[in-house]
Amino acid sequence: MYKFTLFTYYLIVYFASYFAIVSYLVEGSKPVLQGTVEALFVDRSQVIYPGACKVINSTARQLKICRKDPGLQIVLSTAKSQAIEACEQYFQYDRWNCSLVFNGKEKKSIFNKIYRETAFVHALVAASLSHAIAKGCASGDLYRCSCLRTRRKYNTTQLKSGRCGDDFKYAKRLVKNFLDVKQVSSDAVAEILKQDVLIGIDSIGEHLKEVCKCHGFSGSCTTKTCWKRLTPFSSVMGLLKKHYHHAIKKKIVTSPAKSPSPARIKIRLERERNKLIYVQRTPNLCVSTKGRVCKDRNNCATLCCGRGFTVSKKTISKRCRCKMENCCFVSCDMCVEEVDVFTCK
Ligand SMILES: *[C@@H]1O[C@H](CO)[C@@H](O)[C@H](O)[C@H]1NC(C)=O
Ligand SMILES: *[C@@H]1O[C@H](CO)[C@@H](O)[C@H](O)[C@H]1NC(C)=O
Ligand SMILES: *[C@@H]1O[C@H](CO)[C@@H](O)[C@H](O)[C@H]1NC(C)=O
Repeated sequence: MYKFTLFTYYLIVYFASYFAIVSYLVEGSKPVLQGTVEALFVDRSQVIYPGACKVINSTARQLKICRKDPGLQIVLSTAKSQAIEACEQYFQYDRWNCSLVFNGKEKKSIFNKIYRETAFVHALVAASLSHAIAKGCASGDLYRCSCLRTRRKYNTTQLKSGRCGDDFKYAKRLVKNFLDVKQVSSDAVAEILKQDVLIGIDSIGEHLKEVCKCHGFSGSCTTKTCWKRLTPFSSVMGLLKKHYHHAIKKKIVTSPAKSPSPARIKIRLERERNKLIYVQRTPNLCVSTKGRVCKDRNNCATLCCGRGFTVSKKTISKRCRCKMENCCFVSCDMCVEEVDVFTCK
């Protein structure tokens, strides 16, 4: 009987959403999570904001977190720049190249709705924050990390030598706390963004490796020190981009009377826990790829949307004919080389 009612409910929701005009604007619901991701990704300047977080215009709760660990502002700044840099590099030859608006139209901001790109940016920023925090523990910029807290009990010499690995466990907790992930479960939009953020955090966890160093006479491994280390942030981009391509679209019911409760959304998302979720289809970006440079002919086929491309020559100089000199120095010549440059018509 229960199963039947639930099924009927889904059927109603399904048809209701099918006929609803999906023009859902995110405005009005903006949870801290969304505001923070947007603030970090949009502001490409080096503005210093008042308060302990400095890099973003923070909420009172975030200011409290930043005050507890003064190193956090350094980490936030790293997270911001490495996210933007990696995005622009890895999407250089894609129709969407990490621009903040689609087709140069201010009204088509990627943060006005939840496009595939919006979902991706939420995962990207959360991943970058996690990575920067975990690294901040190892570098000593942060000192409230869990690894340090347990170390402190045992060995202060070790603590001072900074032998604290990349602390992902602490990073995960801090990012969730900073983005106020617990508080967002108030509506469907928030529930979706939360999932996108969690996928970003977990993609960092998947890149955690244990490295060990041996101590002892002449290479014997009588004692061993091991710690966790993350691969560079750019190496996570492959996985994140895969999530971008495999993201799935969900409909949200606009009529408040028929909109499913967060609990329902949770049940419906459960089956796709490992996928990025978005709500609105990305506009056709073909009108804005004119003049874009492609990687090669193959890439031009997609990037130029069938309009064709021009090929021009460019000379570049690079190191060549390198050879070893006097055992330890490498000397190279500079060679001038002509390369093709493909540009979309
Ligand atoms: C920062 O936040 C304050 C208070 O919410 C607001 O008045 C101000 O305009 C914001 N500044 C920027 C640059 O967003
Ligand atoms: C603490 O660690 C240092 C370096 O790893 C080591 O030399 C020292 O003996 C340790 N001290 C104690 C009390 O375990
Ligand atoms: C992205 O593409 C647009 C044109 O579609 C161009 O104006 C912009 O400079 C590009 N941005 C980057 C970072 O390459």
